[in-house]
Amino acid sequence: MQAIRVGLIGLGTVGTGTWQVLKRNQTEIRGRAGRGIEVTMIAARNEARAEAYRSVVGGAVPVVGDAMALVDDPSLDIVVELIGGIEPARTLVLKAIANGKHVVTANKALLALHGTEIFAAAREKGVVVAFEAAVAGGIPIIKALREGLTGNRIEWIAGIINGTTNFILSEMRGKGLDFATVLKEAQRLGYAETDPTFDIEGVDAAHKLTLMSAIAFGVPVQFAKAHVEGISSLQATDIKYAEQLGYRIKLLGITRRRADGIELRVHPTLIPASRLIANVEGAMNAVVVQADAVGTTLYYGKGAGAEPTASAVVADLVDVTRLATADPDHRVPHLAFRPDAISDTPVLPIAQVQTAFYLRLVVADQPGVLSRITTILAESDISIDAVLQRESADGERQTDLIILTHDTVEGRMNDALAKMQALSTVLAPIVRIRKEELA
Ligand code: HSE
Repeated sequence: MQAIRVGLIGLGTVGTGTWQVLKRNQTEIRGRAGRGIEVTMIAARNEARAEAYRSVVGGAVPVVGDAMALVDDPSLDIVVELIGGIEPARTLVLKAIANGKHVVTANKALLALHGTEIFAAAREKGVVVAFEAAVAGGIPIIKALREGLTGNRIEWIAGIINGTTNFILSEMRGKGLDFATVLKEAQRLGYAETDPTFDIEGVDAAHKLTLMSAIAFGVPVQFAKAHVEGISSLQATDIKYAEQLGYRIKLLGITRRRADGIELRVHPTLIPASRLIANVEGAMNAVVVQADAVGTTLYYGKGAGAEPTASAVVADLVDVTRLATADPDHRVPHLAFRPDAISDTPVLPIAQVQTAFYLRLVVADQPGVLSRITTILAESDISIDAVLQRESADGERQTDLIILTHDTVEGRMNDALAKMQALSTVLAPIVRIRKEELA
């Protein structure tokens, strides 16, 4: 059978990895897909980049400086979009679909924001949009959620899905350094971008979580409803106190099904140091899925990088090649559930989320302070799990008070925090970090 013809938009890190893996493993890939998968055209955003790409592929394939010319080329069966960002990626993907081409993309931002529009357009044209590489790089988590766990009712997902922030947190804990110092080091080593905002503020993780949540719970992709907090204000002191209490702090993406809706949130989280996911260090990614039949499963691996991400792109290419001739109505649905089974279960506002808390209060070291604070918590119906007070140095008139609570509703904690903050004996803004047992 004739090879399937692929057009590749973008030959950066992931594009180059994809080019190399397709070439190196072509015999295995042909054996698995039933036919060859050949990149027959490459496009760059502009002519200057196209010239740079030509030196990578060395004349083996035409390289054009106009990506729209690639998506309009009638000889191509599949378009692989690896340029990232919203535009021109959105326009190119929609045009490729309109032209009847299947699409493979690693673009989490595009799908988290415009997935509903893109998947609807693909359904209309009977083409596939595959996006394994958009979530957790080389870890086949989309395949696991959409197909491997398809017999389950998924209860919750918790993931370390951003390598940059996990690297920073690992370094802060391991070396006792502050955030700004480690960020600079991460940038020097190439782990963090020159503009690291999307990574450190949790946006990248929220894009990925939004996609996993939609697949797990059969709801539309709703990035706008995600609660997003990053790690830029996290202090080394809190990492140290958490450790003394048997916890690690990780930037987790958590999505959970509850009777009244779905939680969708990214924020720094204390998790027991004994959990496997608490020990995922450096730039690695990991996702825990809790489902009713299988129980807990854990997926671990590289969440970025040329060949790990290419591994996911090529897997999608093989899938699309196998499915290209299948009846569109009997393919695996883009978001696991068939469109008529997508539900309107609401995403809960953060004030309705249920979680435990770590609190650090800088307080005057004098009689009655602890009792006033615990009274406020008791009156708010918030149960205390543990309390730690730093021993004051001789003559010191203030101390740190660390409180771990049991699960409560976030809105209730916000009210209690406002009351505690108003006490004259609370001397600095209270630090509040959510805590999950992941049991
Ligand atoms: N910047 C991401 C990370 C990889 O640090 O994990 C691509 O989403």
